[in-house]
Amino acid sequence: MNLLQNISLKTFNTFGIDVPAEYFLELDNGNLLPELTELSITKHILGGGSNILLTRPVKGLVLHNRLKGIIRIKEDDTHVWLKAEAGELWHNLVLYAIDKGWGGIENLALIPGTVGAAPIQNIGAYGVEARETIASVTCWNWDEKTTITYNNRDCKFGYRDSIFKHDLKDKAFITSVVFKLTKQPGFNTSYGAIEQELEELGVTELSVKAIAYAVMNIRKSKLPDPAVIGNAGSFFKNPTITKIKFTELLQLFPNIPSYNVNDNLVKVPAGWLIEQCGWKGYRKNDTGVHAKQSLVLVNYGNAGGSEIWQLSDEIVLSVKERFGIELEREVQVW
Ligand code: EPU
Repeated sequence: MNLLQNISLKTFNTFGIDVPAEYFLELDNGNLLPELTELSITKHILGGGSNILLTRPVKGLVLHNRLKGIIRIKEDDTHVWLKAEAGELWHNLVLYAIDKGWGGIENLALIPGTVGAAPIQNIGAYGVEARETIASVTCWNWDEKTTITYNNRDCKFGYRDSIFKHDLKDKAFITSVVFKLTKQPGFNTSYGAIEQELEELGVTELSVKAIAYAVMNIRKSKLPDPAVIGNAGSFFKNPTITKIKFTELLQLFPNIPSYNVNDNLVKVPAGWLIEQCGWKGYRKNDTGVHAKQSLVLVNYGNAGGSEIWQLSDEIVLSVKERFGIELEREVQVW
């Protein structure tokens, strides 16, 4: 096992924050996990680095998940079960599925990060969440020193949430995920922008490929490409508030957008709240708020993680003062 020492993580996180890892290992063989378990050193698991903010040098061992492979493990007349290793790029899995015409994850095209991160935060976009297709998640459990498979229900999925952020936080190394995809897709174009984009593309016959390409175009037009401007997608979650609170806000802000969660709760887009507080397009030194989507904080070059954290604090405070809503961060902070 070749542990590297004092390695810069700049190219391993999409924010492009330059902090060192004390020890670093590219893990491309799951058979090393039992041996790694015996190392008495704090372990941090890194996938695509697209949902983390690094605020200080990382003590201990950063394990870069490089487990690769996608295989069809089962199929019947209507469905196919694909097993993807956790280090596969998420978008490669989407491309693989749409190429075969299998449906379920086409609305999640172009989300940065790895397959292993998908269940952790139950990635979601354009009316679809990963939990709708995840059949099971297999992990190496550091405490139990064995491999455990969790079925969909065990994963306790919620909005950008799962058991891997709570009971299994720091306990499980996700090695692979099984997805149940459909051979007869029922297309989800409920998100208004998709319909519009399909029309602009001149699509007359729906297909998983057409939807994926429409989603890719929408994402490219709104979200900054991490290869060009450092960012980690949505920095905050969209807050859920009570209907009573929402009715009060509606009196003051008649244009406030919302989505019904249930009879008592409403979700409000954090991007709108942040924009209303005047942050859209804001820049200070190398930190900023994206000009086309206020939910995305950016690093224009050499911002430090703590500078971005500080900006996020100021945003939280101003939204709290104006709307009485406490924004919750979506990114993981190291
Ligand atoms: N809005 C504004 N100003 C902004 C941004 C948004 O007024 O600066 C308004 C929009 O006009 C719209 C509403 O807010 O009325 C929603 O905006 P959008 O469709 O862009 O989606 P979002 O709620 O801001 C969520 C996800 C994204 C996902 C999109 C599309 C979260 C935290 N974010 O954003 O996920 O791509 O929906 O489904 O739920 C991510 O998690 O990293 C991510 C990019």
